Amino acid sequence: MDLYQKTEQFVIDSFTKAGDERGIKHFLRTVYWLEQLKPNADEALKIAAVAHDIERAFRKQDYANVFNSEKGFASDEHLSYHQTEGAKIISEFLKKEGADKKIVERVKMLVEKHEIGGNEDQNLVKDADSVSFFENNANHFIEVKVKQTSKEKVKDKFDWMFNRITSDKAKELAKPWYEEGLHKLSLLD
Ligand SMILES: [Fe+2]
Ligand SMILES: [Fe+2]
Repeated sequence: MDLYQKTEQFVIDSFTKAGDERGIKHFLRTVYWLEQLKPNADEALKIAAVAHDIERAFRKQDYANVFNSEKGFASDEHLSYHQTEGAKIISEFLKKEGADKKIVERVKMLVEKHEIGGNEDQNLVKDADSVSFFENNANHFIEVKVKQTSKEKVKDKFDWMFNRITSDKAKELAKPWYEEGLHKLSLLD
């Protein structure tokens, strides 16, 4: 197995252990969309794409309930914890696998900003994440998260996930799913 395949397996195992198999498709499709947006994506980009949400597989039970914070899913505190902690977890995994220091640093840099973006490559992971979110997770938010939080917080999450997209191509890809999601939300009472 190469380093990407080992990471993919680590992600699948970690989320399976955490009882969150539902999320796995989102990670695999983030890699798929990343390669649609950048066909010659290097190994570090693919590793970051598949592992970007790894923090969630190791989240502690008593983690503050972000749903109830005022800014909901996009609270700064939550995003910064999620990005930084995920970057730490994946760096440690790669180091243990004996990965090249340059790759470890690059993956860390990418995961650390996968929510808010920054440079071109950080934006690429963020955009692929958004497309895969709308493709794979939007219905779960409509069917489950609305009940746990509110229609408004889920609508805010959809708007935020769409508006943060940098590339026109990614916007075009995400748009039909985004609009469908908003439509489904509008039908809820
Ligand atoms: Fe994330
Ligand atoms: Fe994600």
